[in-house]
Amino acid sequence: MSDSEPGSMQKSDNLSTPSSTPLDAKTIDFVCREQGYEVEVIVLSEVESTNSWLFENKSDAPIMLCAAEQQTVGRGRRGKTWHSPESGVTFSIRFNRPEAVTEFAGLSLLVGACLCDQLRQVGASDAMVKWPNDVLVNGAKLSGILIETSVSAAADSATTVVIGIGINYRRGGEVALIDQSSTDLYEICGTHLPDRSELIANVASRVIASVIDGVPQALQSLAGQWGRYDALAGSEVTVDAGSRKVAGRVQGIDQSGRLKVETDDGLQAFSSADISVRAR
Ligand code: BTN
Repeated sequence: MSDSEPGSMQKSDNLSTPSSTPLDAKTIDFVCREQGYEVEVIVLSEVESTNSWLFENKSDAPIMLCAAEQQTVGRGRRGKTWHSPESGVTFSIRFNRPEAVTEFAGLSLLVGACLCDQLRQVGASDAMVKWPNDVLVNGAKLSGILIETSVSAAADSATTVVIGIGINYRRGGEVALIDQSSTDLYEICGTHLPDRSELIANVASRVIASVIDGVPQALQSLAGQWGRYDALAGSEVTVDAGSRKVAGRVQGIDQSGRLKVETDDGLQAFSSADISVRAR
C-alpha cells in the first residue's frame, strides 16, 4: 500500500480535503434552489442533535434543513448514540405536511434509496440499503437514518416529519465507540471527497422530491426497483419484531415497503423489525 492510499493515512495527517471547508448554508440553499426546492437552511457549529433542534425550533417554513459541524448527543435508532467527529455530515430535514402520519410509513426506504443514489454518484458505487434504515457498503455501515414524527394541532400542517441523516465522512477516534462494522467516504473516495454542503443539498433535494411526490406512491415505484438497493436480497435472516421472532429468507419488499421473508410457515411481511443476517 502506498502512502497516498487512504487506508495508510493516519487520521492526524494534515491533509487538505473538502472536510476542511466549513459547512455553508448559502451553498446548501443554492444547490437546493437549483433543483427547484426552497428550503430554510441553518448551519450550526455545535448542537446536541439536529433532529432535536428542529423539533425545538419551530418555523413556518414548509421545509427546513439543519446541519451541524458537530453533534454532542447525536441520536441513532432504538436509543443508540450516533457517534460522529467534528466536520462530519450530520443533518436533518423537517417537513410540515398536510398528510396524516400513517402516510409516512416506509419513508426510511425512500430516504435510503435517495442516499444510495447520491452516494453512488460521488464514488460509493456499492452503496446498498439494509432494510429498513441503514446504508451499507460491502456490509459496513456508511450512513444511518433516524425518522421522527409529531402530529400537529395546526390545521394546515397535520404532521411534522424530521428526517435525520448521518453519513460517515471521515471518521476519527470515535470509531472505537461504534459497535458494528463501519466505513466512511474517505475510505471509499480517498481525497476525492465531495464537498459536504453540496452532498447534503443533493441528498436533501432527492429526499424532498420523494416526500412531496407522496410517500405511498413513491414506495410503489421503489418496490419495483428494490433489487437495485437491497443489501439483504436472498439473505438468510433472523427477524426480531418484538413479539414475533422468525427465521427465513428475504424476498424483497412489498408495495408498502414491508420486508417479505419466506419462513417455514409461509411468506410473512414485517413493517418494523431488527434484522440479523445468519452465517451460511
Ligand atoms: C441510526 O443508524 O441509528 C440512525 C442514525 C441517525 C443519525 C443522524 S445524524 C443527524 C440526525 N441527528 C441525530 O441526532 N441523529 C440523526
